[in-house]
Amino acid sequence: MAKHYEALQKAEEERRKRAGGVKESAPRAFEAETLSQSQRSNSRGLVANIQSRFRRPLRKPSSANEVNKRRISILQPDSFAAEQFRTLRGRIDSLATQRSIKVVAMTSANPDEGKSTASINLAAVTSMSVGRKVILVDCDLRQPKIHRSLGIEPVAGLAEVLTGRAPLDEAIAQADGIALDVLGVRSTPSNPSELLASQDMRKLIDELAGQYDQVILDTPACLGLPDAKTVTELADGIVLVVRADVTPREDVETVFEILDRDRLLGLVLNGVEMTRRQYGYY
Ligand SMILES: Nc1ncnc2c1ncn2[C@@H]1O[C@H](COP(=O)(O)OP(=O)(O)OP(=O)(O)O)[C@@H](O)[C@H]1O
Ligand SMILES: [Mg+2]
Repeated sequence: MAKHYEALQKAEEERRKRAGGVKESAPRAFEAETLSQSQRSNSRGLVANIQSRFRRPLRKPSSANEVNKRRISILQPDSFAAEQFRTLRGRIDSLATQRSIKVVAMTSANPDEGKSTASINLAAVTSMSVGRKVILVDCDLRQPKIHRSLGIEPVAGLAEVLTGRAPLDEAIAQADGIALDVLGVRSTPSNPSELLASQDMRKLIDELAGQYDQVILDTPACLGLPDAKTVTELADGIVLVVRADVTPREDVETVFEILDRDRLLGLVLNGVEMTRRQYGYY
C-alpha cells in the first residue's frame, strides 16, 4: 500500500496548498499512530457525516455533459481517461492471477468523488475486452445514477429483484452502444440498508458471479451510512476512489478503518491535474 499512501499524501499536500498554504506534512502520513487516532474518533466522525448528509440540499438532475463524462471510455475509447481505466483493468487482472476477483466493489468516503464514473468506465473497458461477460450493478438504492448515465430506463431494478417483485432476467438491461449488462435501480425503497444486508442480496451476487466473468458493484459513499460497507463485504475486491484535492485525508483514513483491508485492491485518485488531463489514476 506504500504507493497508495504516497499518492494520498501528494493529493493532501496539493489540497492544503490550495486551501491556504499549510506547510508540507511528513511523508509517512498513515503511520499506525495516526490510524489508531482515527479509529478512536470513528464514531464521532460517522455522526458528523450523517448530520451533514441530511443537511445537503437535493441535487439538480444530471446534465447531458455530466452524463457524458461518466461514460467517457465508451464515447472516447482513445482518450487519456479511457487509457487510465484500461490500466486499472490491467492491474486488477494481474492481481486476479493470485486470487479470484470476480466481484469488485467501487466505493469512496464521500458523495460526488467519482464512484459511479469509475464503476461505469471500469465496466465499459472490461466489457470491451474480447469475450468478457460483465454486469454492472447499481447498489446505490438512495441516489442511483447508473441507468441514466447509460441511457437505460429500467422496467425493474435491484429493489424489485430483492423483494421478489421482478425476476432477475427482467431487471437486467443492456447499456446503450456497448455489450454491457446492467442491473440498475428502478424504485428507491424505504429500507435500502436492510435490503442490501439481506440474504437475498448475498444470493443475488453469488448468482451473478456464477453467470458473469466480472461483476462490478457501484456503491454509495462509505461514511455516514452502512450501505457501502455492507456491499463491499459481498465483493472479492474493493477499489477506493479518492478525489484529488477534495477528499480529506482523515476521511480516507477512516474509510481504511471501516473497510476490510484484505479486500482492498487499490485506490483510484480521481481528478489529478485536471487542467492538463481530465482523469488521473494511480
Ligand atoms: N475526473 C473527473 N473529472 C471531471 N469530472 C468528474 C471526474 N470524475 C467525476 N466527475 C464528475 O463529478 C460528478 C460526480 O461523479 P460521480 O457521480 O461519478 O460521483 P459519485 O461518487 O458516484 O457520486 P455519488 O456519491 O452521488 O454517487 C459527476 O458530475 C461527474 O461527471
Ligand atoms: Mg454514484
